[in-house]
Amino acid sequence: MSQDRDLAVAILAAGLGTRMKSKLAKVLHQAGGRTLIEHVASTAAKLTAPERIFVVVGHQADAVRDVVRAAPGLSGVQFIHQTEQLGTGHAILVGRQQLQGAAKSLLVLYGDGPLLGEATLRGLLDQHSQNQAAVTLLTAKLENPFGYGRIVRDAQGKLVEIVEEKACTPSQREIKEINPGIYVFETAKLFAHIDELKTDNPAKEYYLTDMAAVLRRAGLGVETRFAPDAHELLGINTRAELAAMDREFRDRKAQALMLAGVTIYRPETCVIDSAVEIGPDTVIGPSVALYGNTRIGSNCVIKPFSTLRDTAIADNVTVLESCWMEKSRVESGASIGPYSRLRPGSEVCEGAHVGNFVELKKTRLGRGSKASHLTYLGDATVGDDVNIGAGTITCNYDGVNKNQTVIEPHSFVGTNSSLVAPVTVGEGAYIAAGSVITQDVPAGALGIGRGVQENKEGWVARRREKNEGKRQKAKDKRQK
Ligand code: UD1
Ligand code: CA
Repeated sequence: MSQDRDLAVAILAAGLGTRMKSKLAKVLHQAGGRTLIEHVASTAAKLTAPERIFVVVGHQADAVRDVVRAAPGLSGVQFIHQTEQLGTGHAILVGRQQLQGAAKSLLVLYGDGPLLGEATLRGLLDQHSQNQAAVTLLTAKLENPFGYGRIVRDAQGKLVEIVEEKACTPSQREIKEINPGIYVFETAKLFAHIDELKTDNPAKEYYLTDMAAVLRRAGLGVETRFAPDAHELLGINTRAELAAMDREFRDRKAQALMLAGVTIYRPETCVIDSAVEIGPDTVIGPSVALYGNTRIGSNCVIKPFSTLRDTAIADNVTVLESCWMEKSRVESGASIGPYSRLRPGSEVCEGAHVGNFVELKKTRLGRGSKASHLTYLGDATVGDDVNIGAGTITCNYDGVNKNQTVIEPHSFVGTNSSLVAPVTVGEGAYIAAGSVITQDVPAGALGIGRGVQENKEGWVARRREKNEGKRQKAKDKRQK
């Protein structure tokens, strides 16, 4: 039942999340490099078709919609608009039109529980289809249940009601069995009774949790399933919980990579997004951050304090300390760093070298070429086996346009040269050190663009003599 036609999913994501103390809607905060809503919606998409997934949006509805629609496999997800957030029960109430006919069963999830896994949900759905209840909900035990709704049971162990923290009596507060907020309803029975929800609670809200007691009073089956891994069911309400969740995702990612043959030193200091791929026998040093769709081949070394975003690194590449790369490509055998910056659109070809304090932007550095020190190459195409001397600058911007520099294969750019674009250095040409090159240099030529040096013999002694005379005059004046 990988895509269950009898199942629709509602994900509640309309709240601001007051306890986050943020202007950003809670579900747009990120853990493990992805927004909370993306985590929950992609888990839902493993159970049913996106057309039967409904996200209830309210706060920053447009932004939440955009994030979900842009996520892989989620473009078909539907939305329900909850203009006023009058509670989790109200969120379902406003979706009645769309949800009622969507499917036989309705799984309700909260958008702030990103760690929830597919297997746990399948267990719940299986149990629900066997027990024929009106609702089956997950429960879990927490050592510190503060903030969660408590599961109140009768002497026979049957669920009586769910009581929110704020409404708990002192003895109910002691209950460690909690409601993680994951329910599967018989859709028809839910909507037959949802109007019975009242707002007679401290928050004056329509609580979805009250549906348990409502359905029970109607004589319908209310079943629970105990989830042994409470951890996976945790919701995020505060920044501290967000940080703990983020750490959990990072730990899991690092563990998975290590099991797949990647060495990570001090994995607890590394930040690796879930989509990142790394080949076996690559060694990742401490405090490395790998974001987005970064892919690293096998047998690479990434030294400490480097950050890579959406960057593709082939096999056998060395990245020394403290490099910053974004939307770039590095071919096999190349070496980068320390302290190199590859800005978007950079391409470092096979065996090439980018050294310290070198910045590339929209630049291709050809095979075996080297830019080892203190250089800026922007909007440049550098051929194979080119040597770029220390301090070379492509002057790519004239204040209006970005212009191209072409440096053809086997050429040599002397240190501290400025190449004023648009300009081409022909194949095998040399540029004299300290040149300002404003015209194309033909293949095989030497381009020199600098003031001619003149040496003035004996100048130092003459100057000293002159200064000595002046000093003596001043002294005589003072003594008068
Ligand atoms: C809720 C449960 C509580 C449970 C806990 C688990 C209720 C009344 N309480 O409490 O029993 O232990 O989750 O994490 O359901 N939302 C809307 N519209 C609204 C209100 C909320 O879409 O009008 C969304 C929020 O954006 C959020 C989710 O529902 O994603 C849960 O809301 P939240 O305020 O975090 O509920 P809790 O107080 O944590
Ligand atoms: Ca919550």
